[in-house]
Amino acid sequence: MLKPKHARVSEVTMTEMVLPNDTNTLNNLMGGRLLHWMDICAAISAQKHSNRIVVTASVDNVSFTEPIKLGNIVTMKAKVTRAFNSSMEVFIEVWAEDIPAGRRVSTNRAFYTFVAVDQNGRPIEVPELQPETDEDNELYASALRRRQLRLVLAGRMSPQEATELKALFEME
Ligand SMILES: CC(C)(COP(=O)(O)OP(=O)(O)OC[C@H]1O[C@@H](n2cnc3c(N)ncnc32)[C@H](O)[C@@H]1OP(=O)(O)O)[C@@H](O)C(=O)NCCC(=O)NCCS
Repeated sequence: MLKPKHARVSEVTMTEMVLPNDTNTLNNLMGGRLLHWMDICAAISAQKHSNRIVVTASVDNVSFTEPIKLGNIVTMKAKVTRAFNSSMEVFIEVWAEDIPAGRRVSTNRAFYTFVAVDQNGRPIEVPELQPETDEDNELYASALRRRQLRLVLAGRMSPQEATELKALFEME
């Protein structure tokens, strides 16, 4: 049995500047580039929790509500919300900052799932996550429903098995 870890152990902050090569023809950051940065930031977080090589298993709905402009500073914060057997859910938040204008806006949030693997790419056990703060506890509890939803959508779990997810729809 591996020693449980707190979410703060896996906290990662990553900062990037949007350069011309990162943008589309409107001078906004391309969605694919942002997803790439988010994947790296979230993967480092999962590595810190598991001390293992990790691979991305899935990314939950990322929406792009605010364009991020050329020259903006992009800050990403990631942490593990819950660990299962070999997989970990990572919550990542993104902000864009226009430093000269003194403006900072929240632009994206997403949940990534990483699987810890051995040298042969086979899934391997990870430590449990032990929540500490109110936010950790909320994310930890809701992670089970999100896991069930993504596994049902991926055809890896039957809807009947998704007990906590079903309970959401059965409330009066
Ligand atoms: C992720 C991967 C290791 C899973 O391997 P597998 O043979 O399906 O292994 P298992 O069925 O034992 O599942 C292992 C874990 O992955 C999780 N998993 C598999 N597919 C998943 C999905 N679509 N979404 C979320 N979790 C998933 C399982 O729930 C399980 O979690 P648990 O151990 O915590 O219960 C394998 O599919 C893989 O290597 N995928 C490619 C990863 C990659 O290259 N990513 C970069 C994309 S370019």
